[in-house]
Amino acid sequence: AEVVIVRDAEEAGVIAADAIERLVRATPDAVLGLATGSTPLTTWAALAARGLDLSRVRGFALDEYVGLPPGHPESYRAVIDREVVATLGLPPGLVHVPGDSGPIETAGDDYEKAIHAAGGIDLQVLGIGRTGHIGFNEPGSSFASLTRVKTLTEQTRRDNARFFPSLDAVPTHCITQGLGTILRARHLVLLAFGEGKADAVAGAVEGPLTSSLPGSAIQLHPRVTVIVDEAAASGLA
Ligand code: F6R
Repeated sequence: AEVVIVRDAEEAGVIAADAIERLVRATPDAVLGLATGSTPLTTWAALAARGLDLSRVRGFALDEYVGLPPGHPESYRAVIDREVVATLGLPPGLVHVPGDSGPIETAGDDYEKAIHAAGGIDLQVLGIGRTGHIGFNEPGSSFASLTRVKTLTEQTRRDNARFFPSLDAVPTHCITQGLGTILRARHLVLLAFGEGKADAVAGAVEGPLTSSLPGSAIQLHPRVTVIVDEAAASGLA
């Protein structure tokens, strides 16, 4: 991977936005893979500030909770609509979230088909969890996995409890692009900030390839850009 160490999340957002801008200037109907959570927020902000025409860009979110009522403000459908579609001016009908069209039983297959029909993901924005997850592929996920329903780890539920009234309110299940799905994207841009991510970043970038640290799957990909602040880079050799 190409590792870029930046001063702060703002600088990281500018660099990630540069990559997206280059892509969209070359391919106005590019397909973006969209992460949620805190990490990509500076990327969306930097991109929004450029006033680029993103009205033809298509999008596929990485993951979604399973078990929240439709329209729940912390569902990733709602988060993507609020923080990405509205902020960037993406065409709402062309931005997909796993599980958003039809029964959950076939949602994984349906999502894979939709990504395929769109021509695949050109650039996938990724955060990384403290468990080493990318998407919601928690430890134990197969490197060949495709979009499917998974159980969230206790650690991830605690980390995401900040968005909910209590830990109990955090869903126990999710549907996520698989590691195999993520590896098919043509360019991976992984961002991480803060000391809490240092071990996960070190494992992903230079640890052994292991499903115990799902992010290590990125080492199998020929085009990865890792953008980290000093604290998140502190575990790197
Ligand atoms: C979100 C996702 C997760 C997050 C990760 C980090 O769609 O797939 O992998 O990127 O949990 O979350 P934050 O950015 O909130 O630290």
